[in-house]
Amino acid sequence: MDKLLIQGGRPLVGEVPISGAKNAALPIMCACLLVSDAVELSNIPMLRDVSTTAKVLSTLGARVQANGNEITIDAGPVTSVEAPYDLVKTMRASVLVLGPLLTRFGEARVSLPGGCAIGQRPVDQHIRGLRAMGADIRIEQGYIHAKATRLTGARLITDMVTVTGTENLMMAATLADGETVIENAAREPEVVDLANALIAMGASISGAGTPRIVIQGVERLHGGAYRVQPDRIEAGSFLCAAAATRGQVRLVDVDPSLMDATLDKLREAGARIEVGKDWIDLRMMARPLAVGVRTAPYPAFATDMQAQFMTVNCVAEGAAVMTETIFENRFMHALELERLGADITIEGNTALVKGVEKLSGATVMATDLRASASLVVAGLVAEGQTTIERVYHLDRGYEQMEVKLRRLGAQIERVAA
Ligand code: EPU
Repeated sequence: MDKLLIQGGRPLVGEVPISGAKNAALPIMCACLLVSDAVELSNIPMLRDVSTTAKVLSTLGARVQANGNEITIDAGPVTSVEAPYDLVKTMRASVLVLGPLLTRFGEARVSLPGGCAIGQRPVDQHIRGLRAMGADIRIEQGYIHAKATRLTGARLITDMVTVTGTENLMMAATLADGETVIENAAREPEVVDLANALIAMGASISGAGTPRIVIQGVERLHGGAYRVQPDRIEAGSFLCAAAATRGQVRLVDVDPSLMDATLDKLREAGARIEVGKDWIDLRMMARPLAVGVRTAPYPAFATDMQAQFMTVNCVAEGAAVMTETIFENRFMHALELERLGADITIEGNTALVKGVEKLSGATVMATDLRASASLVVAGLVAEGQTTIERVYHLDRGYEQMEVKLRRLGAQIERVAA
């Protein structure tokens, strides 16, 4: 298993391009199952989760051709409707094939994802919504087995805001008979990007980005081309790294309009931020100020930014309360940050972070994707050498993070263990 070695203590300075959004790319790739023509996708980040999704689609029989950041998916030849446990257990987002397979082929067998490091993450809302659209769904031998001759449009009200739940139901509704309304829909930009991709394939969808999405089912969708939006979480992670190291960076190929909550919190922390249509400049001239955050569905502060922002608070002046409202076990990074000298007290879903003057390098272990990013940021700040183990978590969701960080002057290298 690879490790990252970081010699910390230098500010990040320079310009870095932001990749396409992982959490938009994955559902959009799965949406290609809805059509029997080829779909050309661009700005796809080269990540492990993307290759896992490609593997899931090829296992079903789709032809997947990747060429750098472009992928062509032809789901014409799909012969199987089963997403096996071995693939789904490595990536929960594989459950996103459920809606498309069921609505196009009338049947889907998708493994239940099982446990997860950051919280329970059940998929009951996906199942409940599909049942309301007329699907017969049984849980058998660890699989969700769904059948429906043709789904029928329905009014769906999810119990909580769920991103992939909204996405699965929206995809299923595109080929259903009649109108589907999803109330309490997730408003995340990735949901909007998926809706736009579906519209480019001929779907009739309005209201994406609001809590009420309306889908008119159509007989069939068609192939086309779509460019995935920039990754707001990767962008936010680089901004946290720049803020924590008191650096000066410019992000390009980014969409600042999707990042208000993160930018506001970084400004509160003392960062000078300027934005253009597709760039963000951040300058942090002094020690950051501790800033309280509370995660919540978009447009509030993203749970996927909580860990990285915690690292900024770890070296800030003052103390801040951070509350995690989305996942019940998403503070695993705190214990690792403490190994670097951070002062964090966890009680239930809140963390009290007291800023310290300095962190010092140590060996730490990544436990999930965003936790890994927070440890990388901490390693960049800490004096001396930080070794980050289990980097495969990072590779799931960040394209060439260490290469990009080196462009910004970081001393970071990967060693194969
Ligand atoms: N929930 C249920 N039942 C459901 C669905 C969700 O109880 O059927 C609960 C979850 O347990 C959680 C809350 O609802 O407490 C919200 O979960 P959501 O369904 O929104 O999460 P997700 O769709 O599984 C996506 C992202 C996550 C991101 C969350 C929240 C993808 C592929 N994943 O997950 O991204 O944290 O939304 O914004 O889009 C990451 O990229 O590191 C990551 C974990």
